[in-house]
Amino acid sequence: MTDRQETEIATADAQKATPTRKVFMRTYGCQMNVYDSERMNDVLAPQGYSATDNLEDADLVILNTCHIREKAAEKVYSELGRIRKVKEARALAGKDMMVGVAGCVAQAEGEEISRRAPIVDMVFGPQSYHRLPKLLDEAKSGKKVVETEFDIDAKFEHLSERAAKPVARRAPSAFLTVQEGCDKFCTFCVVPYTRGAEVSRSVKQIVEEAERMAAGGVREITLLGQNVNAWHGEGADGKAWGLGRLLYRLSEIDGLDRLRYTTSHPRDMDDELIEAHRELKTLMPYLHLPVQSGSDKILAAMNRKHTRDEYFRLIDRIRDAAPDIALSCDFIVGFPGETDQDFEDTMDLIRRVEYGSAFSFKYSQRPGTPGATMKDQVPEDVKSARLAELQELITAQTKDFNASRLGMTFDVLLERKGRLPGQLVGKSPWLQAVQIDAPEELIGTVQAVEIVKIGTNSLFGELIAGHHDSNGSSHGAIKEAAFDA
Ligand code: 5AD
Ligand code: SF4
Repeated sequence: MTDRQETEIATADAQKATPTRKVFMRTYGCQMNVYDSERMNDVLAPQGYSATDNLEDADLVILNTCHIREKAAEKVYSELGRIRKVKEARALAGKDMMVGVAGCVAQAEGEEISRRAPIVDMVFGPQSYHRLPKLLDEAKSGKKVVETEFDIDAKFEHLSERAAKPVARRAPSAFLTVQEGCDKFCTFCVVPYTRGAEVSRSVKQIVEEAERMAAGGVREITLLGQNVNAWHGEGADGKAWGLGRLLYRLSEIDGLDRLRYTTSHPRDMDDELIEAHRELKTLMPYLHLPVQSGSDKILAAMNRKHTRDEYFRLIDRIRDAAPDIALSCDFIVGFPGETDQDFEDTMDLIRRVEYGSAFSFKYSQRPGTPGATMKDQVPEDVKSARLAELQELITAQTKDFNASRLGMTFDVLLERKGRLPGQLVGKSPWLQAVQIDAPEELIGTVQAVEIVKIGTNSLFGELIAGHHDSNGSSHGAIKEAAFDA
């Protein structure tokens, strides 16, 4: 019997019973985990599960874990300690609670998890989510389930089918995974080991999912992949497509106003993708393009496969195509062998590029990666001092970038209610949070907003009276207005 047949039978059985059960899903780490958690909820819905934020109510608990940096596993074990108490309390009240650990810690630790935390019923890696109903059945029959195989194609095929069922109205901005895994093997990174080799979803699957999302009310899609710009596929025209071509195709979908993609590798930014930034009004002027270090010596030790000069030249080409683009980055400080001069090279790169925002981390040794056993590991206090210095510079750049929006008018996608009554929170084209006073009916629409104040973490704006949502083509018009301001 195939996986799919087994799962379908399990689903059919569950549908007969249709009990209402609750699932508590905790998601750690990257946006792909957020997407995966949503898909797990989709898979569980036909089984009678609805989501809850209350652990005590949960018949099923899933921790969707992240393994990218240190102490990830320890955090999971301490969370499992907390869950154990709740599970025991529920048992006293005669109620069951199944516990699953998913994601990259599950992939990396495997059986070790159920050995160290016997309350765990299921351990399963990112490629097994479509099999969740079957794994649940096995676990309920008393078996300890550990499933950490790699079979991304089956996952994509099956999750895609599930999502074809009617979906409830979705949030205005949503993720769509187009590519998973990574073949780059940066020497600090666990991703090639936990998510496996690079696999791209087909054009057909992606377009269909995007169309369904748009029909369900999604206005902005962020395409996800560990190495998203390495995505490749075959188009309806029989030609080989890269991410740029895919973005052109997705921008034809009615109702989709905004496209974004993350995370990109500098080596995979091809001409067509850069041109898409010049031409496509729907492609937002924001790019997360990690460089990790500004030192050629460290870039080589990290196996990044590009130099600092190549990165500068790439940034020039991107800015030539999209002068108003906001650049974002990831930096690691204290990689083995990083001297004061290497760190100074990173600071110099940041000063030259001028980022809109960036994430930065102290290097952490990940078991099984080449970096973990390199000599000249950098002392913790040196890493901390460098991180503080780097973050101070980035904070100043972010502040300047935000301040440069004051007085501008541009389109904002209104996404949800704000903290104060009457307030809505939306997103600028450059991924900044924008707060405005506006009626709730405007959630899910794109509105022209004038920025009147700059806060620490967000911009404050006012609706431009008389502007109505133009459903799809407003960004370009307003983009020019923004430059005029
Ligand atoms: N130590 C510190 N930071 C890391 N990252 C990935 N692996 C490590 C590590 N071992 C950071 C990189 C990557 C981001 C998602 O996490 O900057 O781009
Ligand atoms: Fe990790 Fe490097 Fe692949 Fe990014 S490109 S996921 S940092 S190995």
